[in-house]
Amino acid sequence: MAKKNEIRRIGILTGGGDCPGLNAVIRGVTKPAEDYGMTVFGILDGFEGLVEGKAKELTNSDVSGILARGGTILGSSNKGDPFHWPVEVAGKIEIQDKSQAALNNYKAWNLDALIAIGGDGTMHICNKLSQMGMNVIGVPKTIDNDLEATDLTFGHDSAVYVVATSLDRLHTTAASHHRVLVVEVMGRYAGWIALNGGLAGGADIILIPEIPFSWEKVYAKIKERELMGKKFSLVCVAEGAKPLGGEIVTRGTDIKRTDPVQLGGIGKVVADKIEENTGRETRVTVLGHLQRGGSPTPFDRILSTKFGAFAIDLVAQKKFGRMVALKGSEIKSVRIEDAISRQKLVKPDDQAVIAARRVGISFGD
Ligand code: F6P
Repeated sequence: MAKKNEIRRIGILTGGGDCPGLNAVIRGVTKPAEDYGMTVFGILDGFEGLVEGKAKELTNSDVSGILARGGTILGSSNKGDPFHWPVEVAGKIEIQDKSQAALNNYKAWNLDALIAIGGDGTMHICNKLSQMGMNVIGVPKTIDNDLEATDLTFGHDSAVYVVATSLDRLHTTAASHHRVLVVEVMGRYAGWIALNGGLAGGADIILIPEIPFSWEKVYAKIKERELMGKKFSLVCVAEGAKPLGGEIVTRGTDIKRTDPVQLGGIGKVVADKIEENTGRETRVTVLGHLQRGGSPTPFDRILSTKFGAFAIDLVAQKKFGRMVALKGSEIKSVRIEDAISRQKLVKPDDQAVIAARRVGISFGD
């Protein structure tokens, strides 16, 4: 028998960068909604759709067959923050507050609740919209895995899979050509992708934002391997890694984005320095958006489905202002306010760091 509930209409949106598993969450929310007698309203292009009034109803047939599909059927944007809305005025970009327009659309669509799937930026927006009176539930996504309140975000496992399998492939070229191959991976302020991907792919050196590295230690590790007869090395570097006393390498800034800094380029810097100082031919591969695109791993499909199904239960129970979270092996919820208080960074004594060091991986420190 259908579980009836006075919550009738819920909105759902995907904010920030795309990530494997978003569609699985949308499906995990939409399918059970019918049992609850709820209508799901898909808001297009993240918060941009909430401000500009772009949405369409989602039915079971819309979410059929999307479990394994990458990206998001709703579209996404990392420029649509209602509280940081870029408007062109006299040829210049001006930042305006469009949160009232977002609230007006929420009311005009007669929404009883909003499920927002996103990372740190999305959860900050959710918190502010909650304070304005919207009934919001957050679902944590990001390949970076840098949200403190959940043990894992969906999408991370898929990104780690891409990094590990890329390192496997690069290993053969590195060994055959006696080269050093540097792989630049995503991870702005947290090095989880580089750490877990590097560990799984057998990197010799892993450079992450949390452990500033010494150039001399990086060269020393490559030379130490040469002395052991290994004339190749694999270096896995997070885009946010920096040398001791140095700065992160950026490509530029875009004030339209929630986080205006665009990272990228550390891989080339590392490769050039290694070649110059060790004499060993060195190349760089930047994995970029390959880590965010494509089909989610089975682990991420399962986690995303559990997150989606749990999110709609929270809506039915009217537990608003909360974010779905993985705690151990259980799905629970935490207050969004608490979820955004700090980022989850790699600790120097994390078991993965310790295990990596034990198997001979250098962090350049
Ligand atoms: O936050 C996720 C992330 O993957 C970061 O690691 C990276 O810096 C960023 O997205 C890149 O985003 P975009 O390609 O949309 O500029």
